[in-house]
Amino acid sequence: MSLTIYTQKDLTTSLLKDKTIGIIGFGAQGKAQALNLRDSGLKVKIALKSVSKSIPLAQELGFEVCTLQEVAQECDVIAFLLPDEWHKQVFDEVAPYLKRNQVLLFSHGFSIHFKEITPPPFVDVIMVAPKGAGKAVRDEYVAGRGIVSLIGVEQNHSGEAKNIALEYACGLGSGRSAIFESSFKDECECDLFSEQSVICGGLDALIRAGFETLVEAGYPEEIAYFECLHEVKLVADLIYANGLQSMREHISNTAEFGDIMAGKQIITAESKEAMREILRKIQSGEFAKSFLKERDTHFPKLRRERKILQKSQIEEVGKKMRGLMPWVTH
Ligand SMILES: NC(=O)c1ccc[n+]([C@@H]2O[C@H](COP(=O)([O-])OP(=O)(O)OC[C@H]3O[C@@H](n4cnc5c(N)ncnc54)[C@H](OP(=O)(O)O)[C@@H]3O)[C@@H](O)[C@H]2O)c1
Repeated sequence: MSLTIYTQKDLTTSLLKDKTIGIIGFGAQGKAQALNLRDSGLKVKIALKSVSKSIPLAQELGFEVCTLQEVAQECDVIAFLLPDEWHKQVFDEVAPYLKRNQVLLFSHGFSIHFKEITPPPFVDVIMVAPKGAGKAVRDEYVAGRGIVSLIGVEQNHSGEAKNIALEYACGLGSGRSAIFESSFKDECECDLFSEQSVICGGLDALIRAGFETLVEAGYPEEIAYFECLHEVKLVADLIYANGLQSMREHISNTAEFGDIMAGKQIITAESKEAMREILRKIQSGEFAKSFLKERDTHFPKLRRERKILQKSQIEEVGKKMRGLMPWVTH
């Protein structure tokens, strides 16, 4: 199944030109998106709680900062660019002031898809989800390029929801590469799946298991660190730039032969079954429910695991090794 792709040249409207975009949150995405939209000629305000630590930076960068009530009263587009688990709390604060044809915008489908938030029927609900971290969203824009974004429309009260999403995505710079027409459901479920199975959960567990295997077999921890963690970036960069085949062409024949022989022993039919189970829990809402329960109980699992990892051998040796090459840390 392939998606429709849009670029800057497909824009047929200029609806955002006369509108004010209110961005709630000034973290990784909030800051990057606000700067890109402003540099694209759009009017942007930042909305934060009165006690927010982000206020000085937003003001220093020249943004007008308003309250959550003001963002709903004064802005045409309201972008929820704060952690997903706090969307509902903030939505409940802005909801009483929402007006007809305002646009609620999300960069991840979680809170709408899992019905943490139920917007009133008289607003548009759209998604513009850049497929990259905030820093990349900004860096690519400044370099004259753009991060790919997925857009989606959940509610189209105004009749212009998709065009607004396209314009916003172009304002982020995504029209310079590609804007894929998707949905809250697909973005959310695939994003959670990849975080859990591949890019965060899977990779983290693979690195740790590899490191532990070498150290338990009596090899020096420094070598185990470089082989199992540090060099991940070298291979990831090759895969990112030109794909798996090209990565194999750039590594030695020994490495390629080892890749072919060993990969299937590590990721087995059981691993694939485990992935299907992870996907099933995402699709059924079981994962979302357990995450929201974690939030409601003040994150006991997250706090415990953070402490364990902080004190782990791989992190201790990592700190020492990165200290020898401070330029890798940012
Ligand atoms: N990070 C990514 O790479 C990425 C990529 C694509 C999409 N997204 C999506 O983009 C959205 C924002 O993610 P993010 O990573 O940019 O978040 P983030 O950096 O963690 O957001 C931090 C900002 O949110 C504010 N904030 C935190 N809790 C708040 C609350 N309860 N009420 C009001 N403001 C609050 C913080 O204010 P204080 O300074 O006062 O704490 C800060 O300004 C999420 O939906 C996420 O899924 C993220």
